[in-house]
Amino acid sequence: MTVIGTPGPVSLDLDGRTALVTGAASGIGRACALRLAAAGATVRAVDRDADGLAALVADHPDGGRGGIEPRSLDLTDLDAAERAAAGADLLVNNAGLQLVRPLEEFPPEVFHQVLTVMLEAPFRLLRGALPHMYAQGWGRVVNISSVHGLRASPYKSAYVAAKHGLEGLSKTAALEGARHGVTSNCVNPGYVRTPLVERQLADQAAAHGIPEERVLTDLLLADSALKRLLEPEEVAEAVAYLCTPQASFMTGASLVLDGGWSAH
Ligand SMILES: NC(=O)c1ccc[n+]([C@@H]2O[C@H](COP(=O)([O-])OP(=O)(O)OC[C@H]3O[C@@H](n4cnc5c(N)ncnc54)[C@H](O)[C@@H]3O)[C@@H](O)[C@H]2O)c1
Repeated sequence: MTVIGTPGPVSLDLDGRTALVTGAASGIGRACALRLAAAGATVRAVDRDADGLAALVADHPDGGRGGIEPRSLDLTDLDAAERAAAGADLLVNNAGLQLVRPLEEFPPEVFHQVLTVMLEAPFRLLRGALPHMYAQGWGRVVNISSVHGLRASPYKSAYVAAKHGLEGLSKTAALEGARHGVTSNCVNPGYVRTPLVERQLADQAAAHGIPEERVLTDLLLADSALKRLLEPEEVAEAVAYLCTPQASFMTGASLVLDGGWSAH
């Protein structure tokens, strides 16, 4: 659905800056990588999906501002993740995965994987990135959390736990980073039109015993005041805003983009 009256992009100049975006091969991370490159940044695009990264590089406009440097990396390799973050001026912790399953059936190895990719890797990326940010007295950390960083839903134990943990990590980074010119914030989207949500439709239909075509209206958007999915580009615009000088007093915050879902 088009957003009527969508304004243009926020004004952002990242010439000479390096941004690391995780999960950049798809969905929100891809939109963030393209948006930060359009602002002039050199984007280290990290993902385990090498084909998706190649497609991202191909879609970055020739002769456009900034650049995309693909880094094929599985974030469960935590030492490699920490090394990859060295020298980044901006860090967007975005990579994620979801499994919808009741607690008593939730595979422990998947719980461990979700917590590793969505909480421990962001910690290790922060460890890798902060020394350079502190040394230059400027840095921006944006953590792609979720409404599930603030509220729970049934059958999403690992995801909800990881996102609640990410909220705490982000606030701690905000407190420690403040005197070094580093801000840390979360962006909290409701449901976004990405492969992660498309993959959920079948799972949710099975878990709730309803046809797939009713999952969106009856389940995902049931509590949303605005009855549409959010677009990845809208999330990327919120990330861009958090990197502007106008947002320099904003830290330790959670910027909710959920169409009113959590207003209940
Ligand atoms: N889609 C939504 O509705 C929604 C809503 C709120 C928050 N989010 C959050 O936004 C972020 C991005 O989600 P998306 O919807 O764009 O998902 P997506 O599935 O489209 O993209 C996720 C990317 O993360 C990468 N990834 C996963 N595990 C990885 C690993 N071990 N190492 C390296 N890369 C890995 C995948 O390869 C993929 O490219 C996630 O953190 C998600 O929780 C999404």
